[in-house]
Amino acid sequence: MDWGMKNRLSRIIKPDTGRTVMLAVDHGYFLGPTTGLEDPKGTIKPLAPYADALMLTRGVLRTSVEPSVNVPVVLRVSGGTSILKELSNEGIVASMEEAIRLNVAAVAVSIFVGGEYEKQSLMNLSNLVDAGERYGIPVLAVTAVGKEMGRDARYLSLACRIAAELGAHFVKTYYCESFETIVSSCPVPVVIAGGKKLPEREALQLAYEAIHKGASGVDMGRNIFQSESPVAMIKAVRAVVHEHASVEEAYRLFNKLKEETPRREAKRQEAATSFD
Ligand code: R5P
Repeated sequence: MDWGMKNRLSRIIKPDTGRTVMLAVDHGYFLGPTTGLEDPKGTIKPLAPYADALMLTRGVLRTSVEPSVNVPVVLRVSGGTSILKELSNEGIVASMEEAIRLNVAAVAVSIFVGGEYEKQSLMNLSNLVDAGERYGIPVLAVTAVGKEMGRDARYLSLACRIAAELGAHFVKTYYCESFETIVSSCPVPVVIAGGKKLPEREALQLAYEAIHKGASGVDMGRNIFQSESPVAMIKAVRAVVHEHASVEEAYRLFNKLKEETPRREAKRQEAATSFD
């Protein structure tokens, strides 16, 4: 790995702890106006100072993040489909030159192992790795799970290992039972997605277990930005990931900070436009 690649990765996975708290706000690329992300700018602004990286699309980056914000960007570059169609039918929607112009720290692509367009998604990853190697841009492979696919260690180990074999520099997957077997059989760092919104204590427990079973961090979205107190939640997640906090300590911190910070307005847009 060359200097530029290592430098970009170390902006995301912090060398002092070997871990990262990425904030995932890319959901709109196939889900449209996801609950909590209807106004991306308003959601991202208060959270960005506590994120080690922002995972988003170029559209949200350009429109909703000030260029002066000094947070590394992981640019989602796969897409071209929607929740209404076959999710695995993705292409590459932003070039490596565009990623460089946007000064990103990494690019992200979904792979759909077992999906209808499995090969296409694996070729997307492979082609992106080739381009990333050319310019020193790391590639994050997101092990997306199709509607019928299970989120168990057998399937996720398969997907993570294939991603690493094809050259992904780090991998994002889901937490599951026997998570440690996924990490031990994947030769590159693994971060976890948060998945659907859980009660805050359960989401902190998820982060804690993942970290203690070898994850290099989290790339969490809904469990942060759909929390009743998103800033309190991202700070509590940081305590687990970077500061060795127990679940109880992190949850106490969340409750304390929640009282100190303005509560999110209870604006749950009902299903008309949201599929999350
Ligand atoms: C899904 O493909 C997106 O990449 C999301 O970024 C990902 O699911 C992580 O977000 P969440 O923690 O909400 O699951």
